[in-house]
Amino acid sequence: MERKRILTGDRPTGKLHLGHYVGSLANRVKLQEQYESYFLIADMQALTTHFEKPEGLHRDVMQIAEDYLAAGINPEVSTILLQTMIPEMHELTLYFSMFTTVNVLRHNPTVKTEAKQHGFKDMTYGFLGYPVSQASDITIFKANLVPVGEDQIPHIELTRKIVRRFNDLYKPVLVEPEALIGDVPKLIGLDGKAKMSKSLNNAIYLSDTHEEILQKVMDAVTDPARIRKTDPGHPEICTVYNYHTVFNKENVVEIENDCRGGQIGCVQCKKKLTACLDTLLEPIRERRVEYTNNPQRVRDILMEGTRKAHTVAKDTMIEVREAMGINYFGAVPSYHK
Ligand code: TRP
Repeated sequence: MERKRILTGDRPTGKLHLGHYVGSLANRVKLQEQYESYFLIADMQALTTHFEKPEGLHRDVMQIAEDYLAAGINPEVSTILLQTMIPEMHELTLYFSMFTTVNVLRHNPTVKTEAKQHGFKDMTYGFLGYPVSQASDITIFKANLVPVGEDQIPHIELTRKIVRRFNDLYKPVLVEPEALIGDVPKLIGLDGKAKMSKSLNNAIYLSDTHEEILQKVMDAVTDPARIRKTDPGHPEICTVYNYHTVFNKENVVEIENDCRGGQIGCVQCKKKLTACLDTLLEPIRERRVEYTNNPQRVRDILMEGTRKAHTVAKDTMIEVREAMGINYFGAVPSYHK
């Protein structure tokens, strides 16, 4: 029996952080053997917000590829691909855009939040339409499962609607995917205010050193009512405690009791958290060295992955054009081969 497929991905707009890890990356690493897995570096989608500075893309693509490989995505079993290098994905986006209305996109909550974050007064056609492009990323691989963070749910919902509409209008050749949300759908940022995000400057990166993490954790605001160690703490309002619930599950009850009882100081509590994060990140750091020292190996992995993914995308598009009846001359024209 054929394995079911996973497709998911990220915009290359900087380094990946712990929020990405617990939201989606950990699931990918865990499931990559069980599912035929495609991991997309969404450089076209990155252009929707970074079209004025495409010169940073090359570096960001390499950065994200390294993050993937360091986190444990195994290039021997999984396929990593580049979005701009597969023209069929953009062709499928156009077909989908014929029956996806502007209003549906305008009401997409993630699009709205991001537009606000970027301070867009008006939205470009490309930005407004990126969820349509995301639907083709997923469906061109006939993915069954899409491991993502919570914010991506509206996009998966839209993808499901698009698939149903397409299959209904033409022929049932596309597969309706499901979202798979990680253990921690939304990791709060170090500032305790919003989700962890590069643009909000509240992130711990997978590539941070021990010193960088220690510094960030030490700077995090804890319970303001605790001045002395013996003051009773309120873990429910403390970001450091929140991280213990995620990254130090075994000891979290003890931490909570000691905090409430004034038996552990914030500095000690932060040191414990830092040690847990180091334990999580140590294998990632070790794997990273190998790739940082060998950028040609990373490039080869990307080229090979994209080549493999391209053959799958081309096959789906033959079916799509056939379903729509726009393969006028029967067989596939030679320029598609
Ligand atoms: N929107 C995702 C992000 O912001 C990236 C992405 C592009 C994606 N295409 C996808 C995620 C397809 C899942 C499936 O990071």
